[in-house]
Amino acid sequence: MNELEFLYQDGGVSSEDVEKTIKKLEAYQDQVRSIAVSGRYDTPQASINLSVDNKISERVNALIERFKTDSLTYVIVAGIGGSNLGTKAIYEGVFGQTDAYNSTRKPKILFVDTVNSRLVSEVRGIIERLETPEEIVVNLVTKSGTTTESIANFEIIFETLQKRFGDGAKERIVFTTDEGSHLWNMAEERGIERLAIPGNVGGRFSVLSAVGLFPLSLVGINTRELLSGAESMRTRCTNSLENNPAALSAAVMFLHKKKGIAINNTFFFNAELEALGKWCRQLMGESIGKEHNKEGKEVNEGITPTVAIGSTDLHSMAQLYLGGPKDKFTQFIYAPEGEDARVPEEPFFAGLVSDINGKTFAEIMEAILGGVQNAYRANKIPFVEIKLPEVSEYTLGEFLQFKMFEVMYVAELLGLNAFDQPAVEKYKKETRELLKG
Ligand code: PA5
Repeated sequence: MNELEFLYQDGGVSSEDVEKTIKKLEAYQDQVRSIAVSGRYDTPQASINLSVDNKISERVNALIERFKTDSLTYVIVAGIGGSNLGTKAIYEGVFGQTDAYNSTRKPKILFVDTVNSRLVSEVRGIIERLETPEEIVVNLVTKSGTTTESIANFEIIFETLQKRFGDGAKERIVFTTDEGSHLWNMAEERGIERLAIPGNVGGRFSVLSAVGLFPLSLVGINTRELLSGAESMRTRCTNSLENNPAALSAAVMFLHKKKGIAINNTFFFNAELEALGKWCRQLMGESIGKEHNKEGKEVNEGITPTVAIGSTDLHSMAQLYLGGPKDKFTQFIYAPEGEDARVPEEPFFAGLVSDINGKTFAEIMEAILGGVQNAYRANKIPFVEIKLPEVSEYTLGEFLQFKMFEVMYVAELLGLNAFDQPAVEKYKKETRELLKG
């Protein structure tokens, strides 16, 4: 099987510098390898063991058996940040952003994240029109069990479900949360099904746990393939540092950061990967954006992650990227477009754009990407490439795992703790204070 490829010949750094940087990761790599060998969850890097954890899959599959009915039409995921971005990334990657237009494909996931009256009202309307409880599953996903937005949304959804189906409502609810959280215990008291997130697996590293596996399996996504893609990347990353795409990528990024290039643009050339871009943005933003380093010294460190979609954003941002300040480092990510769309050999409006007649969208997109990369080279703007053989569960699993290793290595090189998010906790606490008033 073809695998994810990482290419950095246009990265604007020498291979000697990359090699030297990678050497700095040796001690950390030993630690990572022993965590992988142990398969345990007692360290902050524990998420690297999710793809090989059969117990999680067994527990998720047992619930799938119970909740997946022939009439299942909607899975509502109430969660935010690390509790929904990864799931959404895979869902849209597999079914496309246009899934909402496809009224015949079901079940669908409806993502309810921020507090938005229109969003929650639409969901209420959907619930009110259901005929049986078996048509819906509501999955509240919150690691802490105390995120204001998620609980507020869930309360409204649950109230609607209860009005519609009475006691039957409870039977269609699953909580995914930290074992031992207040929410976990409440689920037990009220007889609600629950799935555990391992304690040391932080929200943004949790997509391969029950957080993503349960809702995605429910709607027919092949999570076995997703995990097997992630596992193969885990093997590549733990086997060596030299042939480790995540370590190479982290080294290139780190070298640019040291030169003062602190904006990282993740440029996807497959429109269905836009949500994956948002997941990448969170992973980088929360893992690397830190007030203090691991020694507790105030550093206010960070790499600002931006996301662009080719070719759409070429028509809004290319001018800045190519002509503006040279303060950005770019990762181009591309999987060949399908061959099913082709411009007619004899177009009705012939001659408007030359040389597209009879061309597939794959050919056109490759020309656009090639053109952009040539322009970057001509303007001496550094970039690396991540090539996916296709967009599938397997390659998405590889990519997610690649990114999680990459960010751990970048944090290690910068002397940061990738796994906490004290500033996010600060806003959550302040919000709760204001709501007391
Ligand atoms: O990565 C993180 O830890 C955060 O972004 C959380 O995922 C987000 O704040 C949601 O938190 P919770 O899952 O506790 O509701």
